[in-house]
Amino acid sequence: MSMKPRLISGDTPTGRLHLGHYVGSLEQRLALQATHECFFFVANIHAFTTRAERVSEIREHTLDIILDYLAVGIDPKICTLFIQSEIPAIAELTILLSMLLPYQRLMRNPTVKDEIVTKQLGDNYPFGFLLYPVGQMADILSFKAQVVPVGEDQFPLVEMTREIARRFNQVYCGVSPHLKDIDYPGAGGIFPIPDGLGGRIKRLVGTTGPNSTGQLPKMSKSLNNAIFLSDTPDVITQKVMGMYTDPNRLRATDKGTVENNPLWIFHDAFNSDVEWVNQTKELYREGRIGDVACKKKLIEVLVDLIEPIRLKRLQYEQDIGQVMKILSEGCEKANQISQETLKQVKQAMQQDYFA
Ligand code: TRP
Repeated sequence: MSMKPRLISGDTPTGRLHLGHYVGSLEQRLALQATHECFFFVANIHAFTTRAERVSEIREHTLDIILDYLAVGIDPKICTLFIQSEIPAIAELTILLSMLLPYQRLMRNPTVKDEIVTKQLGDNYPFGFLLYPVGQMADILSFKAQVVPVGEDQFPLVEMTREIARRFNQVYCGVSPHLKDIDYPGAGGIFPIPDGLGGRIKRLVGTTGPNSTGQLPKMSKSLNNAIFLSDTPDVITQKVMGMYTDPNRLRATDKGTVENNPLWIFHDAFNSDVEWVNQTKELYREGRIGDVACKKKLIEVLVDLIEPIRLKRLQYEQDIGQVMKILSEGCEKANQISQETLKQVKQAMQQDYFA
């Protein structure tokens, strides 16, 4: 067994990955893959919570995410890549954990509540929608992960995972509730208490203007304001040129506002030439540089970041056989580990009848 701390993260297959995913969690995953034993997976079952009939789309998006992982630089030689639905132990652990989670606690969870609102589910969501947060706990705990890089919106689910892990360890492994989180495994607990890890930028805005509440919406495929890690230079150019900036600025000589302006939020997020950014912000404020010049610079910066990713993706697209081999080996390893965890769980619950 590896002595490196375990790390797990996944994405629901809603389409290709974009810059919001990059700064929210992918960067962290890339930075930690050498020092952690990493598991990255596609949460394809979660896609069924809102799109149960759209099976071919979910299948396509599942492979999209894997291709994006490989393209962005997740190294399959040191990381385990897998697909959630291939790992039955996760589903089984989901049911067992659901017994420890008070229903009202689940319904008060901010991630769950927000999702019902933002996805306009009303009260028409399936029963399985409420199972997905429990499934997410099972994703994490099946691998006894210690670190979970996720976007800010997912933090309440990691918090709930921590609570369940403590509760399981207390109820079934006899761990004292007075212990510190870090001491749970040493005291006989099966599950470490995992830590969520946020990205460099908590919430990246999209390329479009404010919504009805005056807030800049976050980057998301469904809002049509995303720049994808597989966009061509032409598409990036088009998106940046059409990007929302300061609406009160009609001419390059008008004074511009930098705050809450996606153009500058993007420069701050992606342009490593901090000196240029700060100097040019000043010129922008004074009405001494046009939007177009600043956008052109941003296009350069984004193409530099994205083009190598896009090209690497094309290579993998041309060798799907290799991708499927990486995945099937990853699934095999994930099954071994999660089955072992499940065995320990059943033992702790005294439901190991034929051991
Ligand atoms: N719900 C997460 C998302 O949509 C994806 C996810 C599922 C996940 N299970 C997870 C992330 C476990 C981290 C750990 O982004």
